[in-house]
Order: sequence, then structure tokens, then C-alpha cells
Amino acid sequence: MISSTMNSENIVCYDSLITRIDREKLNGHKSVVTWFTGLSGSGKSTIAHEVEKRLFSLGCHTFVFDGDNVRHGLCGDLGFTPKDRKENIRRIGEMVKMFLEAGVITLSAFISPFRVDRNWLRELISPENFIEIYCRCPIEVCEKRDVKGLYAKARAGLISNYTGIDSAYEEPENSDLVIDTNLLSIEKSVNMTLDYLINVKKIII
Ligand code: ADX
Repeated sequence: MISSTMNSENIVCYDSLITRIDREKLNGHKSVVTWFTGLSGSGKSTIAHEVEKRLFSLGCHTFVFDGDNVRHGLCGDLGFTPKDRKENIRRIGEMVKMFLEAGVITLSAFISPFRVDRNWLRELISPENFIEIYCRCPIEVCEKRDVKGLYAKARAGLISNYTGIDSAYEEPENSDLVIDTNLLSIEKSVNMTLDYLINVKKIII
């Protein structure tokens, strides 16, 4: 289980004079955390960016976080041991929680392979504001795609702790949405996500 370590003492939270509800009213949409999980190469980032483009064109305030932007800066000191992945998720979780208060729809695309960490996220954000989207794709298909050439490197023993090869991916059991990315086109996957956000979660107000 992730524990948020509190080493900073004598810190008192300052309540914003503008509430999340004020921001949502101004924006014309609710804020929410969408969380794409799945193997590397399963399509998480591609779908998240395309969904963002569509929401943006509807006038929504959005932002995509994924391993490629976050691991260069905020989490640049972290590797891929289970401990580091946990810390990666903890930092991103705390960050997207602030974006939720800021009235933004965040689209987070991280392998986030461990169930306990994803469940921690859901509780941190609060279940009604956290939407877990499982990009389901067989490892053989992800490995065949090998967009970044990293599966080949992992098979050759050049990378260790690679998810699906020598590090576990624990399949979600309670995702809000499951997208079979090996069966559906990107367009269909994007439409499915938008349909859920707009018609089920009713994020546009
Ligand atoms: S997570 O497990 O901590 O959630 P994250 O989504 O941030 O992972 O980063 C995954 C990306 O880092 C992959 O898409 C891949 O490009 C790259 N990567 C580099 N080394 C590894 C590794 N050992 N396991 C998985 N992904 C890796």
C-alpha cells in the first residue's frame, strides 16, 4: 500500500477562495481524472491524446500526463522497480488530484501495473471522480507492435523489470471501461471513451 509520507511539520492547508464547483461552472464541464492503464504499447497514450483533442475542440480544459512527459521531469529520478513505480504513481496521483480541484479533465496514461496502487489512486481521488480505463491488449500484440523497440531490448536482457516480460502486469478487475485495443480502431476506442465521459458521467454541464 502507498503511504503518503508527511515529513513536513507545521503545515496548514490554505483553502482556496474559488471552489472546484465555481471553476466547473465557469468551464462548462465537470473536472474528472481519467486513468488509462495497460501494457506498454497497448494504446493508452494514443487514445488519451485523441480524446483530449476531441474534448478540447468542445471547449474543455484538459491535460494529458504520460510516462514520456512525467518521467522526464517530475519523476525523472525514478526507475522501474516496484518501489519506484509506486512512487511514480503516488506523485502523479497527488498531482492529478490538484488538477481535479483546478477544474481540469486530466487524461493519465501510465502502465500502473499494480492493482494495489490503482486502488490507492481511486481512494485518493475519490471513486466518483476517478475513471479507470483498461486498454486491454495481449502481450504478443504489444510486443509485435514494439513501437519503441523496448520489448526487443527486454527480451535480449538489455532492460530489466520490463512489464509483461520480467515484471508483472496485474489485470484490472473493476475498471470503469475496458477497451480491447487489439480489436477496436483508435477512432472507435476514442468514441467509446467520449461516450462514457459525456453520456454516462455527464461531464458537460
Ligand atoms: S509505470 O509502470 O510506472 O506506470 P510508466 O507508464 O510511467 O510506467 O512508464 C512506462 C514507459 O516507460 C513505457 O511505455 C516504456 O516506454 C518505458 N519503459 C522503460 N523501461 C521500462 C520498463 N522496465 N518497464 C516498463 N516500461 C518501461
